[in-house]
Amino acid sequence: MTDIFSEPCKDGLLQVVRVDLENLEAVREARKHISDESWKLYTANDPKFNELERMARKPPPKPGDRGTVFFAMTINGEIVGLSNHYYFDSEWENYCVRGGLIVLDKHQRRGIATAYSKISVRMARHMGVICFYGQTRQNSPMHKLRKRQGWEMKQTFKKHGEDWINIRLIL
Ligand SMILES: CC(C)(COP(=O)(O)OP(=O)(O)OC[C@H]1O[C@@H](n2cnc3c(N)ncnc32)[C@H](O)[C@@H]1OP(=O)(O)O)[C@@H](O)C(=O)NCCC(=O)NCCS
Repeated sequence: MTDIFSEPCKDGLLQVVRVDLENLEAVREARKHISDESWKLYTANDPKFNELERMARKPPPKPGDRGTVFFAMTINGEIVGLSNHYYFDSEWENYCVRGGLIVLDKHQRRGIATAYSKISVRMARHMGVICFYGQTRQNSPMHKLRKRQGWEMKQTFKKHGEDWINIRLIL
C-alpha cells in the first residue's frame, strides 16, 4: 500500500520512516556501510547527524514545528538510505525546509534518490512548507539530479575549498 511516505522504485516499495529508538541500532549499522566520501557530502549539509540518539528521542514533529527530523529509507525493511529535513524560518520565507540525503553505496543508481525526492516533497507539503532549500557540490550526482528535477540554481559559494551551489524548489 502506498501513502505519502511510500513510493515504488526498481527494487520494490521505498518507505520512509522517522529514526526513533526502535530503529536506531539498525541506522547505526547502516552507517557502517557508507563510504567516508559519501558521508562527508551528506554531513556537510547537516553535521547534526552526529546527534542521532538525541534526535531519536524526540517526539514525531507536527505541522508548523521547527527543527531537524531524521529519516531512514527502507525497502522490505532493509535500510537503503538516510535523510533529514530541517524546518526553519529563512530571511525570505516564513517557514521552509532544507533537506539532505544519502543512499547506501551498494544501492546507488537504482532510482532510490529519485523516488525519495517525491516522498520528501510530500512530507514537506504535509508540514505546511512551500519552499525547499538545498546545497550541493557543483557537478555532483546530486547537482545533476536536482537540475533534472527542475530545481532553481541560486548562488554559488566555496565550502572547504570546493565549489557548492544553493538550490531551491517552490512546492
Ligand atoms: C546523490 C545520491 C543521493 C543519488 O542517489 P541515487 O539513489 O543513486 O540516485 P538515482 O538512482 O535516483 O539517480 C538519479 C540520477 O542522478 C544522477 N546520478 C546518481 N548517481 C550518480 C553518479 N554516481 N554519477 C553520476 N550521476 C549520478 C544520474 O543522473 C541519475 O540518473 P541515471 O542513473 O538515469 O543516469 C547518492 O549518489 C549519494 O548518496 N551520494 C552521497 C551523498 C550525497 O552526495 N548526498 C547529497 C548531498 S545532501
